[in-house]
Amino acid sequence: MRAQAAVHFEGSSELQIREIEVAEPGPGTVLVKLGASGVCGSDRHVLDGDWQLPSPTVMGHEGAGEVVAIGEGVIDVEPGDHVILSWFYPCRRCTACLSGRAYVCTGSRSEECVLPDGTTPLALDGEPVYPYLTAGTMSEYAVVPESAAIKVPKEVPYDVASLIGCSIATGVGTVVNDAEVDAGESAVVVGAGGVGLSIIMGLQLVGANPIIAVDLNEDKLSAARELGATHTIVPGPDLAAQVAEITGGGAEYAFEAIGRVQTIESLPGLIAPGGTAIIVGLPPADAPVSFDALALAETGKRLLGTNYGSTVPGRDFPKLAALYLAGRLPVDKLISERIQLSEVNEAFDAMRRGERARSVIVF
Ligand code: APR
Ligand code: ZN
Repeated sequence: MRAQAAVHFEGSSELQIREIEVAEPGPGTVLVKLGASGVCGSDRHVLDGDWQLPSPTVMGHEGAGEVVAIGEGVIDVEPGDHVILSWFYPCRRCTACLSGRAYVCTGSRSEECVLPDGTTPLALDGEPVYPYLTAGTMSEYAVVPESAAIKVPKEVPYDVASLIGCSIATGVGTVVNDAEVDAGESAVVVGAGGVGLSIIMGLQLVGANPIIAVDLNEDKLSAARELGATHTIVPGPDLAAQVAEITGGGAEYAFEAIGRVQTIESLPGLIAPGGTAIIVGLPPADAPVSFDALALAETGKRLLGTNYGSTVPGRDFPKLAALYLAGRLPVDKLISERIQLSEVNEAFDAMRRGERARSVIVF
């Protein structure tokens, strides 16, 4: 089977649209015809050389589509099912998976961009090409492990479903699964891109108040207000003082959703004693951050790291889809632009300028 795909070659920040070969699904894997793929900040990190990966790579990890064929032994899904893809497929056998914490699975090979048997299902001119996070959703077709394809109701449009697969799962998950924010608690979100706006949606869902959005871009701040932010701030040197004034002494939760060292370092200053700072944005590799550890300890502040909003895909994707269908999670408001695969480089340029909440490729 052949497919058009957006391929990244190491050293280049531009993707090439190429025709790749996609293998038949082997045991335990499924062939998915993509309906949509989001363009996420994590893809941008790869293009800009922030992280090292096997190359060449079919980019994209935030996708949804229809199962068109299944390999031997697959029992969770069947052809015709609509699925959201997970970019961190659980092995289902390690201690973490067995204790319900698939988000810290130690058996997954998704970060190596290979299937559980160590192979890639994709080729380019007869040579291996690797699906980013074993998803590779910027392609007409993908072959993924059964545990990465989560069935959701067909009423959820593909563009919405694709965003549930990363930014929504991460943003809402970090509020619900990691921070466990309660109604009436205060929060500040630094960075209101796709992930930050998803955190704001999660905060609105659980009844946080006030909800403060911080971003350099005014359009992002107006999107934040539409999704539930009660206050918006373009950051300057007195950000901490402004947050303290709104919250009466510091927020109970501060989320960083950019992936920048400086803004991560600003988190402890935004929270009240006993508050919680959460690192959601992913910085470049080998970029250490520093804090005043004594002040952090003396004020009883907590610092959390989270990956994927501690999402358990099989548990959380159907819940998030149901919340969307019930009108309680306006995922469609995150979509700024629906684009063709051939327009993907423009979408990354817009992202680098801080524009667009989410561009979504529709197939
Ligand atoms: N202060 C405030 N906002 C900033 C700053 C800054 N110094 N620098 C950038 N921003 C804003 C941008 O304007 C943009 O709205 O941060 C936002 C980043 O959003 P996106 O580029 O859309 O990235 P997103 O997909 O949301 O991912 C954010 O989360 O999962 C990780 O790898 C991902 O590190 C990335 C982060
Ligand atoms: Zn993502």
